[in-house]
Amino acid sequence: MSVAAVADLNQKFSIPGHVRFAAGPGGLIVAEVANVHATSTIALQGAHVMTWQPRQQRPVIWLSRFAKFAPGKSIRGGAPICWPWFGPHATEAKFPGHGFARTVAWEVVGTRALRDGATEVSFRIVQDAATKAQWPHATEALNIVTVGRSLDLALVTRNLGGSAITVGDAFHTYFEVSDIRQCAIHGLGGCPYLDKVGGGKKQQQGAITIGEEVDRIYLDSVADVLIDDPGYRRRIRVTKRGSRSTVVWNPWTEKAAKMGDFGTHGYRNMVCVESTNAADDVVQIPPGAEHRLWVRYALEPLG
Ligand code: BG6
Repeated sequence: MSVAAVADLNQKFSIPGHVRFAAGPGGLIVAEVANVHATSTIALQGAHVMTWQPRQQRPVIWLSRFAKFAPGKSIRGGAPICWPWFGPHATEAKFPGHGFARTVAWEVVGTRALRDGATEVSFRIVQDAATKAQWPHATEALNIVTVGRSLDLALVTRNLGGSAITVGDAFHTYFEVSDIRQCAIHGLGGCPYLDKVGGGKKQQQGAITIGEEVDRIYLDSVADVLIDDPGYRRRIRVTKRGSRSTVVWNPWTEKAAKMGDFGTHGYRNMVCVESTNAADDVVQIPPGAEHRLWVRYALEPLG
């Protein structure tokens, strides 16, 4: 991180009452958004939303207290971007799981104060020889982050090349809950899912409750997903477009302990509800076309 880089970003893109840039943890440069609706911190590495907290509310996005902040390392928590593939690479076992977007530099392309008081910050992935070795296609990726009463994220993939590309992607978002054992996740009832813990293809009956490791890819999932949290007396609503699959993940005790950046009890206060294009739900983008994965996260009171 260089002081000059932060000063340059502030000169070009800071907006009083909305956004400024600073050196964040581990020397990562972050956009600090603070407006009338909410606060949010976004690392330029990965265009990674680390926090989002509406005014007068608890944080909505979970960030591990043991997260590691270092160049080239993915941050445990927040809203990591999986791109241009989700999970393991289809053919190259050496390539990083969930793609490289979350561990490389992104640049700021613009900031805007919106009429309703929200703040928009847009990022573009920076490609270099290492990323091109794993993804030899002329492709642009943008993350357009809107921090307001809701948190809206748009991951835009543009095919700038001459042949079709196939992309998998996700907002692998970690949500903060009072106690996952008391929560219920609605909106996936009736969906078939691939069970990565127990194996096989199953069908969801009713709401999801979590009392053990859960790692599932829900297919044919386009409806809103609701995380009902009686402890915090709130519901988190996940609305999405451009995604036909949803991953629900909680590592529970043993897996979390092995990961090294979760802490012992971290798994109790989080759940990942990931709006994805995963498994067979990949996206073909013809030359000159674009694909947009869009999500909105919003809070509602719960009785
Ligand atoms: C989820 C996967 O999307 O991400 C899990 O379904 C995986 O299998 C989890 O463990 C976390 O992945 P990572 O690479 O951030 O440790």
